[in-house]
Amino acid sequence: MCGIVGYVGPRDATPIILNGLKRLEYRGYDSAGVAVVQNGGIELRRDAGKLSNLADLVSQQPISGAPGIGHTRWATHGAPSARNAHPHLGTTGRVVVVHNGIVENYLELKDELAAEGIPFNSDTDTETIVHLVERHQASGLDFTSAAHATFEQVQGASVILLISADEPDKIICARLGNAGGVVIGLGNGENFLASDIPAILEHTRRVIFLESRQMAIVTRDGIQIQTLEGSPVKPEIHSIAFDPVAAEKGEFRHFMQKEIHEQVRALTDTLAGRVDFSAGKIRLPELNLTPEIACRLQKIYITACGTAAYAGMVGKYLIEKIARLPVEVVIGSEFRYSDPIVDENTVVLAISQSGETADTLAAMEEGRKKGALVWSIVNAIGSQAMRIADGAISMQTGPEIGVASTKAFTAPLVDLYMLAILLADLRGTLDEQARRALVADLRLIPHLVGRTLAREPQVVKVARALKDIRDCLYLGRGINMPIAYEGALKLKEISYVHAEGYPAGEMKHGPIALIDEHMPVICIAIQDPWHEKMISQIQQARARNGRVITLATDGDELVEGMSEHVLWVPEAPWLLSPVVTVIPLQLLAYHIATLRGLDVDQPRNLAKSVTVE
Ligand code: AGP
Repeated sequence: MCGIVGYVGPRDATPIILNGLKRLEYRGYDSAGVAVVQNGGIELRRDAGKLSNLADLVSQQPISGAPGIGHTRWATHGAPSARNAHPHLGTTGRVVVVHNGIVENYLELKDELAAEGIPFNSDTDTETIVHLVERHQASGLDFTSAAHATFEQVQGASVILLISADEPDKIICARLGNAGGVVIGLGNGENFLASDIPAILEHTRRVIFLESRQMAIVTRDGIQIQTLEGSPVKPEIHSIAFDPVAAEKGEFRHFMQKEIHEQVRALTDTLAGRVDFSAGKIRLPELNLTPEIACRLQKIYITACGTAAYAGMVGKYLIEKIARLPVEVVIGSEFRYSDPIVDENTVVLAISQSGETADTLAAMEEGRKKGALVWSIVNAIGSQAMRIADGAISMQTGPEIGVASTKAFTAPLVDLYMLAILLADLRGTLDEQARRALVADLRLIPHLVGRTLAREPQVVKVARALKDIRDCLYLGRGINMPIAYEGALKLKEISYVHAEGYPAGEMKHGPIALIDEHMPVICIAIQDPWHEKMISQIQQARARNGRVITLATDGDELVEGMSEHVLWVPEAPWLLSPVVTVIPLQLLAYHIATLRGLDVDQPRNLAKSVTVE
């Protein structure tokens, strides 16, 4: 949610910032801006809409200089417009700010500043920050002390970057709470700041992650970090391994398409080094799970948002079935308000692609506060959810850029399956033969996903038939019920088609009234323990003239005879079947959206990392 980039060094900051913002555009794309110190003053360009508008503006009205800061916005306070786009200048025109997060006490601060006659030029909460800095400077503080005093006043989770034309050798940065991360990239005689690693990877792989309630003074030759309380911090320098090419679209039209097709590789990497097929064992060393811990556990809460929460629902099924340990799934935004029953024998397991989702992080904090063991399954390297957990499973998917999550859905499904086997093994709830059989099934997964992806043409055909629909129902049962939710979410977010996922057996209790000859009903009716039940549900939809589209296992003529269209999938072990059944639904949403001419990677109103409550 909002992307921030900063550069301090001898080069012109403008192209570095624009390139960096391009890699962060998934975080927000309703307006963008850049500011640099040029000829002793601050020059700034801002525009509404996507980053390409800002790039056009900068090429018509070039600016050049350093240091510089830039921003791509996902609006919270104030409509998406050039006026509300960051950076925001103060009244002196000599201090400028970019910000990710929310200044929760901005109304109070704004009233106070306005009463002193300070004019506001935007409707944002962010602008208060720069006016506060200037007010402290006016009272005699230098730039760093003024920034520090401001950080103490601002409430809520925020990442803030500031530059001043009067001290053009530095960028001051603060991280207040969990409003998305900030990473400092170490160069030679130059340094970088960004919300996320891909923005600076072309320049450096040596990074420092700023922690909550820390501020950094970043100059071209040094980085000084301290807590807001004033204690100096010796930062840990991390070396980032991933390849910048992994964050490029390559031959694909969209990141989402590329990421869907990367799932064979992502799942192969997910298994690598974690599955010992000859011993029939799972190894997840980063989880720090001992037999003692596994045996004393009484409950797991899985907490996550959106797609990650649907992965968690499949996880509940897997852990309860395989490890016989009770699991409750609570979405991140509800967890801390539900007064969860948590003690030291409980695990709070967060699932998150970004590792920055504010609601998920808040749930982790709640778990920690109540004494639970906190685990996470996270994709983004170095993210907060990975760092604050007692144990973590890192998704091996590489960066996911498309706003619609795809490979970061299937990877945790396999992680959760492995976790279930490991827990069962350590708790002694699985005999050796059963364990070996479950482990052996994992070997099939990359191949099954590859075979399903190869059937993209059948999905395109169905997408053409459905491209003008207004509504759509997705039905599933048992372990594939969350796949109905996920299929519907994918369609909603990128095609803007109203879609609902429903437990198929629940239809008769109300939603069946929606079905008529215009309603497509996508039924996940593969060969699994619910196959017969799903056939009854298909019949009920047909009896109301619904347009039945089924996801069926190869060769299922019975289901084929009942369907307007069939999306065929290869036979898969049923506990792993969600990894396969979700693939045609990801592709269907993708192709319907492209046929409707929509911007698949940057759907309206959304952002990839939701770092505000
Ligand atoms: C997925 O397609 C969505 N864009 C969204 O639901 C996402 O899964 C959710 O915001 C959680 O994000 P996270 O995995 O980064 O925590």
